[in-house]
Amino acid sequence: MSIASGSQLAERVSTISESSTMKVAAEAGRLKREGVDVVDFSAGEPDFPTPDNIKNAAIKALTDNFTKYTDTTGILDLKKAICDRHAKDYGTSYTPAECVVTVGGKHVIFELTQVLLNPGDECIIPVPYWVTYKDVVNYAGAKCVFVDTDEDKGFNVTAAQIEKHLSPRTKLIIINSPSNPSGAVLARDEFEKICKLAKSRGVLVMTDECYCRFLYEGGEPYSAAAFEGMKDTVIVAGSLSKTYAMTGWRVGFGLAPKAVIGAIAKLQSHMTSNPTSIAQKAAVEALNGPQDSVVAMLAEYAKRRRYVIDRLNAIPGVKCTEPMGAFYAYPNVRGAMNKLGIATPLDFSSKLLAEAHVALVPGEAFGTNDHVRISYATSMEILAKGLDRIEKFCRG
Ligand SMILES: Cc1ncc(COP(=O)(O)O)c(C=O)c1O
Repeated sequence: MSIASGSQLAERVSTISESSTMKVAAEAGRLKREGVDVVDFSAGEPDFPTPDNIKNAAIKALTDNFTKYTDTTGILDLKKAICDRHAKDYGTSYTPAECVVTVGGKHVIFELTQVLLNPGDECIIPVPYWVTYKDVVNYAGAKCVFVDTDEDKGFNVTAAQIEKHLSPRTKLIIINSPSNPSGAVLARDEFEKICKLAKSRGVLVMTDECYCRFLYEGGEPYSAAAFEGMKDTVIVAGSLSKTYAMTGWRVGFGLAPKAVIGAIAKLQSHMTSNPTSIAQKAAVEALNGPQDSVVAMLAEYAKRRRYVIDRLNAIPGVKCTEPMGAFYAYPNVRGAMNKLGIATPLDFSSKLLAEAHVALVPGEAFGTNDHVRISYATSMEILAKGLDRIEKFCRG
């Protein structure tokens, strides 16, 4: 037995796989370093710089020597800022004791699943899903129960679809609206039905609000945590990464009943001690400072979204549902794959990267077999170049 062969690794590591979106980005990066002109639509990352007021707050934190350990669950100012922003935007009423600051949204999702799920518990995950859910649920030893959604209804899950999959072992339902990868935005009343259903069965709902500020065509942001009587059922997983173009700063948060926050605090105290002190000060400014950069980014995404969907739907063999939020398009490329004699989105993406030098993420990563995900968080110029290449590739 040798560690070199991996045979000494703990068994639970085999329950997870590397994030496929990260894998595609790594392959695209490798080609770029070799000098290939790759158009990268794989990264779920705003192309905008972090706004100056936020950067300046971090610089001030440094010059003020705010560079030491902080409270495990984050500085009080930031927890207050998170609760205030959430209250202002959605009408919720959380207190700092019901809030934890984490090292990004991924971190809080990992921690929530680890503190909530026992081996054998079931967790409902609508398909298509964001890659990480499946792995973190598996890592907790729980079972993913996938719920298919209808593409012709914009991939929106319904309470009726979820109800069919509930069992006495169901512990948690994960909802991500707007959705990565489909851009589906759950109608408020349907989300409320899902929460009521969950509550009536003693099931918890984790709402991943990573993209909640990015809604199109007049969509009004809301939070399931604001639904009446749902504070003991709904748990919020939040992130500053996309809203404020802060992916590298690693700031996320959880809003939940105190018992859940306490469990996360225990875990976090052995895991990260605290989120980075400087990033926390920057996050306070992001949440309390002017919000106009968020509005400006949304306006830019809206233009790109229209362009991308129209271009995709003009390609023979490609059909794209209208994403109503986030910054992804999730076109069905089955027709193009059939025409080109390609069996799977994985093969489609590999061929597209190798031959047309466009990186996107195959649908298998999100649980579907006819789609690819395109991130349009990139400039119009790059979008045009990449879509020209995709179109040429699909036309054979
Ligand atoms: C749906 C969803 N939730 C959560 C996250 C976590 O983001 P971060 O860890 O950067 O805060 C992401 C990032 O891509 C995401 O797409």
